[in-house]
Amino acid sequence: MVRGGIVQFVLGVFALFAASNAAASEQTGPLSLMTTSQGLGENYQIGQKVFQQTCAGCHNASGGRAPQPSVLRAMRPDVIYKALTQGVMKPVASSLSDAERIAVSEYLAERKMVSAKDVAPPFMCPAKHARFDRMAPPTYAGWGFDLANSHAVSAKAAGLTRADLGKLKLKWAYGFADSNRARSQPSLAAGAIFMGSHNGHILALDRETGCERWRYEAKAEVRTAVVIEPWQRGDSKADPLAFFGDLAGNVYAVRAFTGEPVWTVRGDTHNVAIITGTPALYDGTLFVPISSMEENSAADPNYPCCTFRGSVVALDARTGKEKWRTWLVGEPQQRKDESGKTEHGPSGVAVWNTPAVDPRRGLIYFATGDNYTQPATELSDAVIALDMKTGAIRWSHQAIEGDAWNVGCFISSDNCPDDAGPDFDFGAGVILTRTRGGRDVVLAGQKAGITYAFDADSGEQVWKRRVGRGGLAGGVLFGIASQNGRLYAPVSDFGEIADKTHPAMPGLNAVDVTSGDLLWSAPMANVCRPDQVACLPGISSPPTATPGFVLAGADDGHLRAYAPDSGEVLLDLDLTTPFATVNGVEAKGGAMSGGAAPIVDGGQIIVASGYGHAMKMAGNVLLVYEKQ
Ligand code: HEC
Repeated sequence: MVRGGIVQFVLGVFALFAASNAAASEQTGPLSLMTTSQGLGENYQIGQKVFQQTCAGCHNASGGRAPQPSVLRAMRPDVIYKALTQGVMKPVASSLSDAERIAVSEYLAERKMVSAKDVAPPFMCPAKHARFDRMAPPTYAGWGFDLANSHAVSAKAAGLTRADLGKLKLKWAYGFADSNRARSQPSLAAGAIFMGSHNGHILALDRETGCERWRYEAKAEVRTAVVIEPWQRGDSKADPLAFFGDLAGNVYAVRAFTGEPVWTVRGDTHNVAIITGTPALYDGTLFVPISSMEENSAADPNYPCCTFRGSVVALDARTGKEKWRTWLVGEPQQRKDESGKTEHGPSGVAVWNTPAVDPRRGLIYFATGDNYTQPATELSDAVIALDMKTGAIRWSHQAIEGDAWNVGCFISSDNCPDDAGPDFDFGAGVILTRTRGGRDVVLAGQKAGITYAFDADSGEQVWKRRVGRGGLAGGVLFGIASQNGRLYAPVSDFGEIADKTHPAMPGLNAVDVTSGDLLWSAPMANVCRPDQVACLPGISSPPTATPGFVLAGADDGHLRAYAPDSGEVLLDLDLTTPFATVNGVEAKGGAMSGGAAPIVDGGQIIVASGYGHAMKMAGNVLLVYEKQ
């Protein structure tokens, strides 16, 4: 089980594709933030000591409210410092010197606190670009583009045909400061592009020029898309809200036209809870998927694994008040293992993806991850339908039974469950669509490299189609798309897995929604150059389907357009180059592996590039291409 020692372990941590970790940041090249002990000097040791003496009692605990270090790492050091000097941690930090507060902030964030003079100034809009256009309500519903999560764009909305692909020109590029990834999917409304960022800034950028209309500072990295509340076109009183979640487990609402905060709630008070999947908004309710970092915490053999319970919570969009929460696993029970160490189970069943909304049936659909400890339970690695009014489970379909796994398995830690499973979560959002015979089905793609269709009324499996080998970071990782009776399934097939039954098949596939037949498969050649660290073939993020072409951002940093009927590559843009940015921040593209789809709208392609995490290529740029 220990094969490969540290490499295997590191791979495993990455495979969890959640918040940052030390080793992940180390391979990020010139853009990297100052990481781990490097660059922190003696503050690393001082910070570590302060943490052990003053903070660890609460923050290293299992199952409490105090965010674990893995979660605090997604915060900027100045945000941690602010919590210690002005925020909720002021009382506990009052006995510390200011130097100690700075040291512990840098130690936890694993980077230096940047002094005010080194911070890039915001690139604010002049008045004529700062205005939000009330005649332009949101172009789409959120992460999935529509309530069904199709990731499909009509020919009219796209404004780009297959023939236009050769006429694209870069309109502008924006660089994310203090960031080595750009994994929040851009949202469009009121002439602005709304996006979260690695350094916790939420930005409303003018779509015409890339200047900032406003920025808001969240407490930690925001990797969800920003969901914009729809309004009546032209309504002069409209005051829409913008919603997003961060990697410290907070869910936020701010005013879309000003960035002014309205409410913030912790999505789940468990100290490793994070928000990865973008919440879905429907009829005044925000459906928030809750995931966690605890699968990583288990890498520490002393950690009493595990107490996190996955859930979906429904919040009143205007107030943030909880309407219902559906737990997906029972209360963990405490017990002792053979060596007398405390452990807990069952646990896990995180939700990494945006629910699809079915107004006709009054249901939401989503898919779940693995259990962290035994006993494995019946809602892990499953597709689930909930009543949207009450949260009651209408049906569930488990794809793989008995999948209890955590990162402890990479180091043969006591924390690895007996009979460990393959870690074949569903990371990708499911899609509601219709077959040729008029049957409504829910499409799903799993890290196992398998796609499925389930009956929307009963959850019964309609078909199952293998499209890849599968792996800890996919198989199908973060998303699929569907249009005109086809399911587009990207495959990463990253890393090695023990099961050698199937060959790795990184690339894009089209599956017939009605029959489950494979229509075409476009395997990817390895075009990575020897000088490109962390470059590899594979597609981890959802593609975007239009009638003329299917667009996919890949792990090798290329954005490719495929012919919908054959899989022929129609366009291939290498984005792994430096870009001159309108805001003057040094930036380049990289892997597009973090779960954001490229946007096609109004004759433009809008793509966020860079994913310095999980052994993928760093980058920090937003690119807007336009038809000439
Ligand atoms: C007595 C227990 C306790 C101690 C000691 C403690 N914390 Fe906390 N900490 C918490 C809890 C509980 C929360 C969550 C607060 C909440 O959600 O309202 C928290 C939250 C935080 C946050 C997030 C703040 C935010 O605005 O969301 C940071 C940062 C933090 N702690 C840092 C530290 C540091 C650094 C130390 C040591 C110097 C420390 N804490 C000591 C219990 C503690």
